[in-house]
Amino acid sequence: MILLETRDLTRIYGGLTAVNGVDFKLPRGQIHALIGPNGAGKSTFVGMVSGRIPASRGEVWFNGQNVTQLPAHKRIQAGMAYTFQITAVYANLSLADNIALAQRSRDRTRILAALDRVGLADRADQTTGDLSYGHQRLLEIAMGVAQAPRLLILDEPTQGLAESEIEGFNALIRSLAGETTILLIEHNMNVVMALAERITVLETGEILATGTPEEIHANAAVQEAYLGHV
Ligand SMILES: Nc1ncnc2c1ncn2[C@@H]1O[C@H](COP(=O)(O)OP(=O)(O)OP(=O)(O)O)[C@@H](O)[C@H]1O
Ligand SMILES: [Mg+2]
Repeated sequence: MILLETRDLTRIYGGLTAVNGVDFKLPRGQIHALIGPNGAGKSTFVGMVSGRIPASRGEVWFNGQNVTQLPAHKRIQAGMAYTFQITAVYANLSLADNIALAQRSRDRTRILAALDRVGLADRADQTTGDLSYGHQRLLEIAMGVAQAPRLLILDEPTQGLAESEIEGFNALIRSLAGETTILLIEHNMNVVMALAERITVLETGEILATGTPEEIHANAAVQEAYLGHV
């Protein structure tokens, strides 16, 4: 069962084709990593999937529905959740209020359950802006999880996490695996190799390779374009 599919998905900025004719299929339940060099088009691709960036060409299908023309909030209602490459939390609100906004409910039990997933339940009433950057990133993931999404898209979630926080992040994603499908943009190859069931490599807006972690690691073109440099 395919949860997400893109067909010929393309985004052109002036003279620059940021994403070029991407055909992509994500089966329900999979943890799938999207990797590639800076500027490869990863964020633009998930921006089009989530509806924040209009496609110049092509289609997005989600849960059996053509969502290409749906605005972002309708795609959220349909079961997509995403965290941005640049952290998007309300710094002047408490953690609990951030979760309440994400889940559209002030149910305290659910708020604490979501925060507990990322180890932040004991900080529920602190002001978010007082947290470390790494903890703010974990809060953002909790905000995604609180929506009980069909698809969780994470754009560089470990950026800014301390090395000591990475293992906890990996455990969190593994614990979500039975509940949701995950599309993970990630530069940290240790995280990718530890988590992903399949990997897609994007380069200059096009899919260079897709396969298991072993296949991607052994792929000479991927080594040349990306892995040789990280
Ligand atoms: N709003 C925009 N206007 C013009 N060009 C853009 C815009 N957004 C992105 N681009 C360009 O599109 C290309 C793809 O950018 P994108 O941010 O999708 O890459 P990325 O793979 O997410 O990179 P990174 O790993 O650095 O986050 C880049 O050349 C970028 O400069
Ligand atoms: Mg990006």
